[in-house]
Amino acid sequence: MNIDIFTLFPEWFEWFASQRHVSNVVSAGARLQCVNPREYTPLSGGQVDDTPFGGGAGMVLRVDVLESALRGHYGVDPVLLRTRRRVIALAPSGRVLDESLVQELAGEPALTLLCGRYEGFDERILEHFASDVVSIGRYVLSGGELAAMVVCDAVLRKLPGALGHERSASEESFSAALEGNPEYPHYTRPAEYRGWRVPEVLLSGHHERIGDWRRERSRERGEHRRDARSR
Ligand code: ADE
Repeated sequence: MNIDIFTLFPEWFEWFASQRHVSNVVSAGARLQCVNPREYTPLSGGQVDDTPFGGGAGMVLRVDVLESALRGHYGVDPVLLRTRRRVIALAPSGRVLDESLVQELAGEPALTLLCGRYEGFDERILEHFASDVVSIGRYVLSGGELAAMVVCDAVLRKLPGALGHERSASEESFSAALEGNPEYPHYTRPAEYRGWRVPEVLLSGHHERIGDWRRERSRERGEHRRDARSR
């Protein structure tokens, strides 16, 4: 998996890339690279954004600047690029990221993530350069960087070697192994704390009963969530 992140703040990703689960997948062959559109801008003074036509607050990332960055980095017209790899613009208006989209993206050989800033992107970037517009939730962040990290984190932990323990990702919340339900509760030592006992079955060493108990709790949590949503 190769992930290129187009961001005006590449230094934000240095910390992210240094985290253990990320460096694990990088050691196993994944690649994470930042590209700064400012380095490709044809405009003077490193300009990358501009005021919105029609007025209004904030600045908008320019379509010519992003074309120049994508073309400069990949050597092809970005209109063509999006037919060859997933080019994902992060924006609050996009498709909300969920487990099925994460699974889908984890199966791609390469991703390009575009981070907008302030008021976001000139709409023509979304229309003509992006293959997808993805949101991490219905709220507005001050830029796409944190959203891009969320996408990277969720996708990279699906890849072999990320978690050390291969079962962790296959039986986690919303996985097929749990029929799309949230994960069951976890406990660790001490077995009793302030009178709060760990469920007896988990101390029994009886793997079949433990498996049944976990699937049942996971199903209950799924039902609870569905009830809360339909209210
Ligand atoms: N950029 C600003 N807000 C965002 C959000 N909620 N999701 C993705 N990108 C964003």
